[in-house]
Amino acid sequence: MKKYSVKHPQRHFTIDFCLSTGYNSYERKTTERGERMPLKIIRNDITKIQCDAVVNAANRWLAGGGGVDGAIHRAAGPELDRECSKLGGCEVGQAKVTKGCNMLCKYIIHTVGPVWQNGRSGESELLASCYRESLRLAVKYKCESVAFPLISTGAYGYPKEEALQIAVSEITDFLLRNEMTVYLVVYDKLGFQASKKLISDVEEYIDEHYIETHFLPRNSSVVLDAAPQRMHGMHFRSVAGQAPEEKALCQSAPCGEPSLDEMLSTLDESFSQMLLRKIDERGMSDAQCYKKANIDRKLFSKIRSNVNYKPSKATVLAFAIALELSLDETRDMLMKAGFALSHSNKFDVIVEYFIKNKKYDIFEINEVLFSFDQVMLGA
Ligand code: APR
Repeated sequence: MKKYSVKHPQRHFTIDFCLSTGYNSYERKTTERGERMPLKIIRNDITKIQCDAVVNAANRWLAGGGGVDGAIHRAAGPELDRECSKLGGCEVGQAKVTKGCNMLCKYIIHTVGPVWQNGRSGESELLASCYRESLRLAVKYKCESVAFPLISTGAYGYPKEEALQIAVSEITDFLLRNEMTVYLVVYDKLGFQASKKLISDVEEYIDEHYIETHFLPRNSSVVLDAAPQRMHGMHFRSVAGQAPEEKALCQSAPCGEPSLDEMLSTLDESFSQMLLRKIDERGMSDAQCYKKANIDRKLFSKIRSNVNYKPSKATVLAFAIALELSLDETRDMLMKAGFALSHSNKFDVIVEYFIKNKKYDIFEINEVLFSFDQVMLGA
């Protein structure tokens, strides 16, 4: 794990962020609750990824070369050269399939990216076509998982940030209509960072909100403690700071107050109920919602069938983004699952930034969360 620090010119603090390397550390983060995410951006050698199909950034002759092409040909062994020679080459923006040979995957999908010229020679459309055509073949060959490198961003010179955005946008589009796990495998740190503009906007927001909280004077928490906390539609007073006799009164249901049994029998709407209600109110289908949230269908079914399902915070926020909830609605939904948004937490501040600015593209948010080494939404 490599750490980076950005020193803020006006204020006296630094923002640390990390780029995780290695498949395992990233995988652990996204699947520790056993929940799958259909798009995973990971940093690794693509020849080490276990999935149904690996995409190769090939040349028009499918003749093998350097970069990722060379790595795949070495890992697959000489049989791959023989397979490729039968295919009669491949046009730019198109894709062809061979067996996986000695690789861990069943298939290798060879696609030819455009050579970057000036950005005005149809490069973006050709690059998008590489992703679409490769995914079309992955569906045709019934693949459940596929791994892409950042096509064209090596020898073919495509700027990495733009290429990353095209890749994410094409894959996202595809995942809205298809069930598949797609890995976007990046090899170097540049390919890993979201657009510089986005990162700097988020840094600015963190500066204003996250750091502020950390520089509050020590006694400012007294003010927070004194405020009543609203939970599940009931008012609780902070027990900290109360006189002992007052604490005892709270615990033994003061006169006029409902008993514990009464309170338990009139619980508020649960997270699952609120989610389903919001989906209906938005006129969305379940599938539109869970796909937009980058949530696995199986997890959604669990939530749907269990009225008391306890989701992770990242899952709640993924749905809040998919439903395009306002900040207040997001707080409500988080509360249903027992969570809150805090300015003491970088993850929270980043997500809050996107919601406040009505930027509801979960993959864009995940790129930024990833850049700041935070858990991503949808898992
Ligand atoms: N795993 C994942 N990504 C990799 C690996 C690897 N083992 N090796 C390289 N990469 C990354 C590079 O860092 C780059 O971001 O893949 C991206 C694509 O780089 P290239 O392999 O150079 O592919 P491209 O730019 O599309 O150029 C294709 O290069 O190797 C030749 O025959 C190939 O002529 C074709 C051209």
